[in-house]
Amino acid sequence: MDHRDPVGARRIAFATPETEFGEGVADRLPETLDRLGVDAPLVVTDRGVESAGVLDAALDGLELDPTVYYATTEPSVEDFENLPDAEVDGVVAVGGGSCLDTAKVVAALLAHRGTASDYLGVGRVPGPVAPTVAIPTTSGTGSQATQTAVVSYDGVKRGMSDELLRPDVALVDPALTRDLPRDVTARSGFDAFVHALESLTARDHTRVEPRPINYQGANPITRPISRRALELVHGSYERAVADGDDREARRAMSLGSHLAGTAFSNAGLGAVHALASSVGGMTGRPHGECLAASLTAGLRYNLPSRREQYAAVARTLGVAAADDDTDEAAEALLAECERIRDAVGLPESLADLGLGPDDADVIVENTLIQERRIKTNPRDVGEDLREEVVRALE
Ligand SMILES: [Fe+2]
Repeated sequence: MDHRDPVGARRIAFATPETEFGEGVADRLPETLDRLGVDAPLVVTDRGVESAGVLDAALDGLELDPTVYYATTEPSVEDFENLPDAEVDGVVAVGGGSCLDTAKVVAALLAHRGTASDYLGVGRVPGPVAPTVAIPTTSGTGSQATQTAVVSYDGVKRGMSDELLRPDVALVDPALTRDLPRDVTARSGFDAFVHALESLTARDHTRVEPRPINYQGANPITRPISRRALELVHGSYERAVADGDDREARRAMSLGSHLAGTAFSNAGLGAVHALASSVGGMTGRPHGECLAASLTAGLRYNLPSRREQYAAVARTLGVAAADDDTDEAAEALLAECERIRDAVGLPESLADLGLGPDDADVIVENTLIQERRIKTNPRDVGEDLREEVVRALE
């Protein structure tokens, strides 16, 4: 008989925005704003979302006349110097991860002024921000579900993490993702895949020091969500990339990426994300590409601490047989992750991002300061990460 304690005595916090999911749920925006008491929304979007007609689709039926603020891709601290001065009482974010992250920063600045750098780090937002509704137009970051915005500062990707930044409502409408170009589907979908995998295999919450944020380690609430997210994304990602009109695949990616965001914003992530943030700041390349380039180094570094679990995940995904031994099954998971990365045409190594052996020191240094990721990595991260980094630079 199995006497393992399935839940444990440790406190678990779990936070999520109120969520509506399904084709057409963006139609609920007017009613949602009404319920939140928002009369003068600021819409944060980008030119691409607008010119693709997705903004109109998301705002269809909205009788209010919103102020529009355009986000940049991969925002940096300086991008927030010219905020609109119109009186607004709520924020609606319509777009991919950069837009949704921008909306969180804008909400903090509108409420408390100052500059974006004032709020970088954990728990630095001094008080409530305006009600925020997030409408994702990609199936990737899951930012609509999370309490963090990623912003570049001095060439390093930094997080602004605060429970006050988690959107109040997420309207997750797969219909808005139908016309996403192939490369965006590939990059954003890979992010969702890594969120699911890293949150599932994150350090157990009983081994993470209590911290003033919900990145508290994988736990009995987050693991089933991560697992479902991983199955949905694994089963639909390549189909969505190959055929954007595959509505079933688009729906699965949309829900999978949202669940992955929900899970990782409570459980935390690990070395792949820490490395990707480091090289993202150095190269300015999109997050999904940096993740792909960091994948092998991060997973291999963690392999000694996660052999059993990688093997179990490989069996769950059907890429290892029940009678494969642990080492073989764990290797099968790594091989499957690399196969998917290559199948969608993402970079294979840090060298593919244009980095070379001389960059190893800075990469490692910038990775070790990714405190929000490192603390939930299954293995203690130290200078020995360099070995994997050097291999990925060859
Ligand atoms: Fe990510």
